[in-house]
Amino acid sequence: MTGAARFDGGFVGEILAEPGGEHLLTCWSCGTCAATCLVRRFDPAFNPRLLLRRAGLGLREQVLSSAEIWQCSACDACYPRCPQQIHISDVIRAIRNIAIREGYAPPGPHAEVDPQRCSGCAVCTRACPYGAIDRVVTFIDDQERTIARVDPNLCQHCGICVAACPSGAMSLETVNDRELVTRMGAGGWLERPGMLQGGADAPRILAFVCQWSIHADSEWAALDALQSDGLRIVRLPCSGRVDPAMVLLALTQGADGVLVVGCAEGECHYLRGTYLGRGKVLLLNEMMQQLGLASERIAFAQSGALDRRVLPRLVDQMRADLVRLAHEPAAAAV
Ligand code: FES
Repeated sequence: MTGAARFDGGFVGEILAEPGGEHLLTCWSCGTCAATCLVRRFDPAFNPRLLLRRAGLGLREQVLSSAEIWQCSACDACYPRCPQQIHISDVIRAIRNIAIREGYAPPGPHAEVDPQRCSGCAVCTRACPYGAIDRVVTFIDDQERTIARVDPNLCQHCGICVAACPSGAMSLETVNDRELVTRMGAGGWLERPGMLQGGADAPRILAFVCQWSIHADSEWAALDALQSDGLRIVRLPCSGRVDPAMVLLALTQGADGVLVVGCAEGECHYLRGTYLGRGKVLLLNEMMQQLGLASERIAFAQSGALDRRVLPRLVDQMRADLVRLAHEPAAAAV
C-alpha cells in the first residue's frame, strides 16, 4: 500500500466531529449522488460516492490531498435524491475544513474585497448563495470601518457577489469587471455601431453565456466558430454573474441586442444563479419598457442537459427581432 493510501483510524472520527460531517457513515455508497452530480457531468473523474467512501475508509492523505474535495460546487442537486438524505456538500465541506487546518489551500481564485472601496453595506453578504461572506470591524487609515470578509473555504467563485456589489469592491480574478469589459470589447467590438444605430447591415449581438450551460469542448468550439462581427460570446462562471451595468454598456456601445444564457432549471451549479440572472434581465426589460425602449433587445434563455444546442436558435430568433426593430426607428435609441 502506498503512503497516500494509508489507513488512518482517527480520520473518520475527525470528520464526524466536524459540523456537517456527522452523516459520513450513513452513506450506503449507492452512487445516486454520482448519477445526479452536475460537476460529474463535466468531469467524470469527480465522484462524490467514491470520495465519501475513501473518507469512510480513513484514507486520510488520499482524501485531503485530492483535488476532488474542492470540486464540489455545493449545488445540492444530489441532496434531494440521496436515499439516506445526506447533505453531501456539508460532508465535503467538513473534509475541506480539516484540509485547510492541515495546510491545504483551495485551488483557484476566490472573491476578494477591496477594503478601501467596501462600504460594509452587506449586499454581497445577502447575495452569496453559500454564506461565504460576513462582515468584520477593522481599522483603515485609523478609522473604524465595517467591511465584508470572504471565507475562501466557502467561496465557490461564482462571481455573484461581484455583480451585486454596488461599490465595485468585490472582485474575482478572471471575471472581474475590467476583465469582462475587455472580453466584451476585444478587437474593438464594442466601438462599432450596430444596425439600430445605422452602422451595420445586420444586428450585432453580445451573448453572456454561463460556462456550465454548454457541456462539451466540442460544443463550445462550435459556438466559438459562430462568433463574428454579428455575435460576440462572453463566458461567465454563472448567469448570476451578469451585471446589468455591462448589459447597458453593451447596448450603448454598439450591440443591438444582449442575450444572457443560464443553466436549465435545477442545473445551476451555484444554487440560485439562474434565478438571479433571469431576475436581472426581467428588471432590465421592465426598465427598458418604462423608458419607452424596445425590451426585446435584452433576453434571457436557458440551456441544459435536455437541449444544449439552443444558443444558435436563440441568436437567430433575436436577430430576426432586431431586424424587425431596425424598421421601427423609435426603438433604436438606448
Ligand atoms: Fe449556469 Fe448558474 S451555473 S446559471
